[in-house]
This record gives sequence, structure tokens and C-alpha cells, in this order.
Amino acid sequence: MTRSSAPGKVYLFGEHAVVYGEPAVPCAIERRARVRVDQRSDGRLRVHAEDLTLDGFTVEYGRRDDGPDVNVSESLVAAAMGYVDGAIEQVRAVTGEPDVGFDVTIESDIPLGAGLGSSAAVVVAAIDAATRELGVTLETAELADRAFRTEYEVQEGQASRADTFCVTAGGAVRVEGEACRRLEAPDLPLVIGFDGGAGETGQLVAGVRALREEYGFAADTVEAIGDVVREGESALADGDLEELGRLMNFNHGLLSALGVSARSLDDMVWAARDAGAYGAKLTGAGGGGCIVALDPTEATETALKYTPGCEETFRAALADEGVKRLE
Ligand code: PMV
Repeated sequence: MTRSSAPGKVYLFGEHAVVYGEPAVPCAIERRARVRVDQRSDGRLRVHAEDLTLDGFTVEYGRRDDGPDVNVSESLVAAAMGYVDGAIEQVRAVTGEPDVGFDVTIESDIPLGAGLGSSAAVVVAAIDAATRELGVTLETAELADRAFRTEYEVQEGQASRADTFCVTAGGAVRVEGEACRRLEAPDLPLVIGFDGGAGETGQLVAGVRALREEYGFAADTVEAIGDVVREGESALADGDLEELGRLMNFNHGLLSALGVSARSLDDMVWAARDAGAYGAKLTGAGGGGCIVALDPTEATETALKYTPGCEETFRAALADEGVKRLE
């Protein structure tokens, strides 16, 4: 038996623009997905998942295509299982054991599909635990790459390396195309607001792509996000919270112009700003899900608790460690 965990993440800067080769700076947060793996002798894959938004469910797959045997809705299973199944395919490929089977148990404190990197965390922890179960320990770069390939396939090409590298390496990271590295960063006073919903990443990415093709000024907006990210990197290196907040506000405005915000996200962003946060923006694909604000005081959390449309708010420490090998 092996167990690994991986953190969730927020984007300080750069979501969407990263899809077109601009840099992005996500940062790992101390909300984790933990995955336990036990090898099975019959080549089957059985997955049991528990998290904040799903009641526990169990899925059992045969060696390949004999389909899942489950008692919850097909689409829910397809979404959650696609990632685990893809992760196990990577494990089979990298270890050269095409017929190996596992019991996989997932426990996650990261809301699903809310821009906090839940799928990346599950994929990274699953690949790490399952390879170790077979006696293979992957280096950070290889693990992040295998996790990226999983997301890329499951999301039909609509994935950057940002999420998977960030949750593997931990801390704040910079991703630009294939180039991924960690950044020096102070512990940031991150406050998250969650509207209880989730955006459709594929549709939102497609919407930005269409706008960018139709209007030169939309393409310029994507490039302007890249400029904000580059300024944001220096503010992060200087630990300048005021400047970071100002740039996060700017980044939110540009994302909003690209049509990926939502009323609930804007309401939470404004509640945080009115409460005195240094800055606030949506995080991830948008359309619903989460915002991230910078506020060392209690004021933003208190304001978000009273904001209609905000279902949950919490403080999230930066996770300096990415994937953790628990057992
Ligand atoms: O919503 P999330 O956390 O999956 O983030 C999506 C970020 C995008 O830039 C919109 C897409 C990507 O894969 O980078």
C-alpha cells in the first residue's frame, strides 16, 4: 500500500492567457487530495472517492473496456473517472506493466471543478502513489509531465502545464509553454471565496479563443494579461502585497473583458475589495467557482460570509511542498 497527497492551487496571475503561450503564476495551497493505492492481482481498477462535493462512490473497471459497474450517474462517473483512468494508463505506460490493476481510494478537501486544481491534485497523487506501489519513484519533472499528459488527453487538448506542474512542485511557480519553474515567494495572506458552482473549462477556453480570433483588441487583452503576469513576478519577488493586489485587480478586469467572469465572482471580488483586501480576482477558468483575495486581516473573510452567492470562504496557506509521500 502507498499513499500520496498533492495540494490544490490558485492562479495569482495568467489563467487563459497561458493557453496562448503567455506566462502564468499559479501557487499551491494547503488543501489536499490524498490518494491511497493497493495493487490488485486480477488486473481490475477499483476507485473509491470521497470529497466535499460528492457523496462517496465506488467504481470498478475491468482490465480494459468492459466498462464501469456503478450506482451513480454516468456523467458524474465519466468526469471523475476520466482523470483516474487516464492517470492509471500513464502508470501502466511508465512502469511497462500494461495489465496491472489497483484499488484507488481518493479523499479530497478541494472543491471539484472550482478553479482550485482538484483534478490535477488527484492525478498527481494517483500517479505518484501507483508508480511507487510498483517500486518506481518518479522525479518531479517526469511526474508533472505524466500528469499533464493525463489532463491533456482527458480535456481533449484544452490544458496547459500550469496546474499539474504547480501541484507537483508546490509553492508559487511560473509556467510559460513547456518551461516550468518554481519562484521565490513569501507566504501570502490568501483568502478564497467559493460560489458553490463550477465553470465549464472547455467552453470558457473556446469562448476566449473565438474572441481572440474575431477581435484584435481581444488578442491584445490576452497579451496584456501576459504583461500583468511579468509585473506580478517582480512584485512577488519583492513581497510587495500592495502591488500584487493592484495587479490582481487588473488581471480580473482583463479576464472579465474576455467574458469569463460571472455575477457571483464579480460580487465576491467587490466584497473583498470593499472590505479592504489588497486585491481580488477570479481563479481558474471562471464562469463560476472561486475567487482569490489578498488580505492579512479577517475583514475579507467576514465580508464574504455575508455576500449573497458566496457559499464558502476560507483562508489558504501557500503549500510549500507539492506532492507528499505519506506511506
Ligand atoms: O479552472 P482550472 O483550475 O482548471 O484552470 C483552467 C486554467 C486555464 O488557463 C483556463 C486552462 C489551462 O489549462 O491553463
